[in-house]
Amino acid sequence: MTIISGIQPSGRLHVGNALGAVRHWLGLQGDGTNRCFFFIADWHSLTEEYDPAQKVAQVRELGAELLALGIDPERAALFRQSDVPEHLELAWYFNCVTPMAELQRMTQFKDKVGHGESPNVGLFSYPVLMAADILAYSQDRDTQGVGVPVGDDQKQHIEFTNHIGRWFNNRYGETFPEVQGLHTETARIMSLKDPSRKMSKSAGAAHCLFLDDEPEVVMKKLKSAVTETTPSSSPSGRGGGQSAGVQTLFAILEAYAPHEVVARFREQLADGSIRYSELKSAVAEHFIEAHADFRRRKAELMAHPEQIDAALTHGAERARAVAQTTLRTIRQRVGIA
Ligand code: TYM
Repeated sequence: MTIISGIQPSGRLHVGNALGAVRHWLGLQGDGTNRCFFFIADWHSLTEEYDPAQKVAQVRELGAELLALGIDPERAALFRQSDVPEHLELAWYFNCVTPMAELQRMTQFKDKVGHGESPNVGLFSYPVLMAADILAYSQDRDTQGVGVPVGDDQKQHIEFTNHIGRWFNNRYGETFPEVQGLHTETARIMSLKDPSRKMSKSAGAAHCLFLDDEPEVVMKKLKSAVTETTPSSSPSGRGGGQSAGVQTLFAILEAYAPHEVVARFREQLADGSIRYSELKSAVAEHFIEAHADFRRRKAELMAHPEQIDAALTHGAERARAVAQTTLRTIRQRVGIA
């Protein structure tokens, strides 16, 4: 398959990013039959409030984190979105086949407006650029299909990409294939502080467990993680149904602890003998241990930014060659060539 996915450079990676997306990227990159494109979505990140002076550093830090997690620049094209201007050009052609009313229905946009943000046009057409990010790499006839490994929260964007592909095909003739969202079992990790909402950078640092949080920070955050919700919303209590907070702790434990450890806590949960303080300590211990190497590698890379930049430049060259080929076809289709 052709595999394509991106992450916004707007802060450090948290466990939701890792379990919903990047872990999956590593597996897909490891399968020799896939052609992988992973990018840092710096253009998308300009749709939110941000400090221009920080952006280059944020891109670099995300590059360091992805490399430290094991993204291999030889097996996957790892690049910065803005190094491949073809994404923006394709987004323009897509803008011209996308009905405004359809964009107005997108939940991400509606949510942000609902929270009182004054939306810019970039936020409005965010899904159009995302469709371009994906479909710019969809023309490879040698690999079967296009897969987009992302968390649950991106499902609507993937569907929208397929709508755009269809609108384009209807107007200009069969060009783009259907793409497929690829989701893990942990495609939605909830906030530690408020398990009714998704873990996200925009909610604030206290809601997120960052991969490079220092051990004492990890312990502190997990200690105060919410397990029980109000009695009325969790009537079955300890023995029966799991609250969203407990499910989140188990999801993290399952990702990082050996099977026996998980099984032991599952039994305790089932027979009602579970002590959440012990569960939290185990989650902290295994999470910290699993990321010791990551923290060391990230620090090494951050001390050698030229290595990060070289990896991203190399990736951009490879990605751009593919995107340029796509755009040659598209220009002809739309009558610009
Ligand atoms: P972003 O930067 O918000 O998130 C990056 C990836 O992490 C996943 N994710 C989660 N998964 C599980 N639980 C969570 N709490 C959680 N929070 C985030 C996201 O689903 C995503 O896979 N629009 C995208 C970036 C993008 C993109 C693309 C992705 C731009 N163009 C083209 C794929 C293809 C975004 O904002 O991701």
